[in-house]
Amino acid sequence: MKSNFRRIAWVTDPHFDHAKLDVWQAWNEKLLELDPDAVLITGDLSEGDDVAYQLRCLAESLDRPILFVLGNHDFYGKSIATTRRDLIALSRDVPQLTYLTDHQSVSLNRTTVLIGDDGWGDATVGDYAGSNVRLNDFQLIEDFRTSSPEHWQSMLIAEGKSAADRIAQKLRDLPATITQVLIATHVPPFREACWYEGKTTDDNWAPFFVCGQLGEVLQTAAAESPDRRHTVLCGHTHHDGIAKLRDNLVVHTGASVYGSLEIESVISIEETLIELSRPSLRFP
Ligand SMILES: [Fe+2]
Ligand SMILES: [Fe+2]
Repeated sequence: MKSNFRRIAWVTDPHFDHAKLDVWQAWNEKLLELDPDAVLITGDLSEGDDVAYQLRCLAESLDRPILFVLGNHDFYGKSIATTRRDLIALSRDVPQLTYLTDHQSVSLNRTTVLIGDDGWGDATVGDYAGSNVRLNDFQLIEDFRTSSPEHWQSMLIAEGKSAADRIAQKLRDLPATITQVLIATHVPPFREACWYEGKTTDDNWAPFFVCGQLGEVLQTAAAESPDRRHTVLCGHTHHDGIAKLRDNLVVHTGASVYGSLEIESVISIEETLIELSRPSLRFP
């Protein structure tokens, strides 16, 4: 893969299975017109086997690096392990595709890398025991469907821990010359980044909408490397906002509407600057 990315188009939660063909075509044409060096997708591409189909279509039509993580919907109809295994295999087969969860870091320029992980709403923030939220995940992802509800909390915690451990390792492996890190993930790592209609989430939803253990890893990394800028890109809530946790730790959460497709931002990358500009392009 080339290692000088100046402009990346960021898309989150496209839920392609809800978009009509003409909407997809208009969105795809706009992406081609913007002509980014790569396209980054922060999860919830579709559901089940359609995820691989959609990625193949994108690889063919856009013909440039497509860097992605998966969201909870992408695991619907299968187990977590099978989904990941299938998409790892696909990414090895299709040169344009990079599944960031299965990848160390992507060099964007001399000082900047991109890392990523699916993340998971990990039941560590908010009030899991008191929550009445029951996501479709529990019926549609095989791991949860085939386990009794009393195990769900520990399973969520384990998924969040795996995500946090993988990101911690990727951050530890970075050389000191890296002063900017883009971190792509599906689930917001902080309650402060978990937006809904301009407000952040409450205790009822937070267990399923925050990957708290990943947040802890990011806080520690940002504290230990004050001269390195950490810019997090995530989705999952379908409502956008920006949360500044530290001078060197900022989280951008992207928006989505079922049935329409958006280009959330164009990310401009220089050796001392990462800038997001919002084209606000929604189709239709
Ligand atoms: Fe979504
Ligand atoms: Fe999601």
